[in-house]
Amino acid sequence: MAIIAPSLLASNFLQLQDECNMLNKSRADWFHLDVMDGRFVPNISFGPMLVEFFRKTTTKICDVHLMIEEPGRYAELFKTAGADILSVHIEACPHLHRNIQQIKSLGMKAGVAVNPHTPVALLKDIIGDIDLVLLMSVNPGFGGQSFIPNTLHKIKALRAMIDERSLDVKIEIDGGITEDNAKQIIDAGADVLVAGSAVFQSPDPAATIARLKAI
Ligand code: DX5
Ligand code: ZN
Repeated sequence: MAIIAPSLLASNFLQLQDECNMLNKSRADWFHLDVMDGRFVPNISFGPMLVEFFRKTTTKICDVHLMIEEPGRYAELFKTAGADILSVHIEACPHLHRNIQQIKSLGMKAGVAVNPHTPVALLKDIIGDIDLVLLMSVNPGFGGQSFIPNTLHKIKALRAMIDERSLDVKIEIDGGITEDNAKQIIDAGADVLVAGSAVFQSPDPAATIARLKAI
């Protein structure tokens, strides 16, 4: 059974408390929180202040996806805001190992996010140090895009890399996930499904989460 992590980016920001209440009552496992800086990605979303509000409204895991340059400058702020998992992009981190050590020493789980064009083979020498790989199945920056099919090959290669060494690393897939493609993503080896539009644009988001959970 996959972990379901709705992305609040697709929620109605004018009714955030209602959206959180709905998620809290639903079968969602994690809150997926997308932080964008307008530099690493061509969009700006929100920062630690909003993460702090989400932290106050839920006991579920706050899974923070940093799409920002120089994430090391902000790791402590996100820890203080209440992040449980902090993921940084491999493409934004020339000193990735240092960033991972920092996140872990702050007491958070550490994730590495990977853009669609970045080969998973690049994770070989960091995978033993992390808790999660966040494979982007769209180009980061916006919700509502279509799933890139090549991601399925990447999931399988990553699953093999993890299982070969019996590592305890979760594979999280982010972008374009729907009720129609979720099964093949899970079958390829994914542990965590992020879903924004598929959840929040559906007539009954809690029911959609329950159906994703049941796949
Ligand atoms: C994209 C974000 C995603 C996004 C997913 O940059 O990382 O988490 O919100 O949204 P959907 O599910 O609509 O593709
Ligand atoms: Zn995300």
